[in-house]
Amino acid sequence: MRVWLMGSYDGVEQLQLGEVPDPQPGPTEVRLKVRYAALNPADAFLAQGLYPAKPALPHILGRDGVGDVEAVGLRVADIRAGETVGILRCDAGVEKPGTLAEKVLVPAESVARIPAGWSLEEMAGAPLVFLTAWQALTQWSDPPAPPPEKSVLLITGASGGVGVASVLLGKSMHLIVVGLSRDPEKRVTLKALGADFAFDPEDRSLVKSIAASISPKKVELAVDCVGGKLLPQVIALLGYGGKISIVGRSGGSVPEFNTATLLFRRIRMGGVAVGDYTAQAAQGTWKEIVDRLNAAGQRPQVDSVVSFEEVKKGFARLAQGPMGKVVVRVT
Ligand SMILES: NC(=O)c1ccc[n+]([C@@H]2O[C@H](COP(=O)([O-])OP(=O)(O)OC[C@H]3O[C@@H](n4cnc5c(N)ncnc54)[C@H](OP(=O)(O)O)[C@@H]3O)[C@@H](O)[C@H]2O)c1
Repeated sequence: MRVWLMGSYDGVEQLQLGEVPDPQPGPTEVRLKVRYAALNPADAFLAQGLYPAKPALPHILGRDGVGDVEAVGLRVADIRAGETVGILRCDAGVEKPGTLAEKVLVPAESVARIPAGWSLEEMAGAPLVFLTAWQALTQWSDPPAPPPEKSVLLITGASGGVGVASVLLGKSMHLIVVGLSRDPEKRVTLKALGADFAFDPEDRSLVKSIAASISPKKVELAVDCVGGKLLPQVIALLGYGGKISIVGRSGGSVPEFNTATLLFRRIRMGGVAVGDYTAQAAQGTWKEIVDRLNAAGQRPQVDSVVSFEEVKKGFARLAQGPMGKVVVRVT
């Protein structure tokens, strides 16, 4: 089968197209003929050695995807060859070979059926980022029961995979959503997706502008995909007891800030780790996510689809800042 091989930890630019034998499923695995894969910043971090997982080389990246079931392990009872399914977060693309390949092995417990009416491209890119966004939104408390008192959710990197998922899930929880994107067109799209306000994180009066737009409320929860110089501004916008779910650090290192800014408002910060979901928890959460998107008539957002040969172009688009997910057409 054709694969993109990662032969070193020198970055995704060094990936090489190659051929390897088809993998054979173990007793609890299924083999998928990959139709679409999706790219995540974690793939690029892993390829630079900047990720906790250090798989043996050569490795195959790719954590998300959809494919046709070709072969099932001896102990797999409820999945049949010929079905088209998606992958919920698992070890594929992390410690095990991933979806930037014509075929991939997936634990049967991490397979999910395609929700009715969704395209394969939409499904391919959704699970990892929506599961991440769900954890970011719910790790401090359960989602509010409707009709809740409307509280304010601030999302940095709102145009990205996790960001868009946080916008859609935040609106499903009846929150007032403030999204940040550096691109004016993407800010228009964020509002079309349901964000109540969209601001440019580079705006010199960002804190003042957001504070004025949500006044007299303050931000209750922030989903921070960017960090860097934005983090102190996010902290400044939080009200008493405000929380920050730290998802990513696309913005690099955080400048020095006075930790006293956390004390008097009892600000809490907590890391998000999508890798913490068990297969069973991921299945339960995924069902809840799909139900919420269907109830709102929403779909995952696809930024672009590149061909298998164009994987490096896809990673370049991801690094530039997508509007939703970058998807790879594999077969
Ligand atoms: N903790 C976890 O379990 C977990 C899971 C998934 C992802 N992540 C991490 O979370 C982060 C976001 O993931 P993603 O999949 O949403 O990434 P993504 O699709 O690449 O989107 C990130 C967005 O952040 C914005 N951005 C990037 N660099 C920025 C900068 N220097 N300053 C301001 N904004 C910047 C861009 O938006 P604009 O161009 O529109 O401004 C971009 O669209 C990544 O670091 C990823 O590794 C963590």
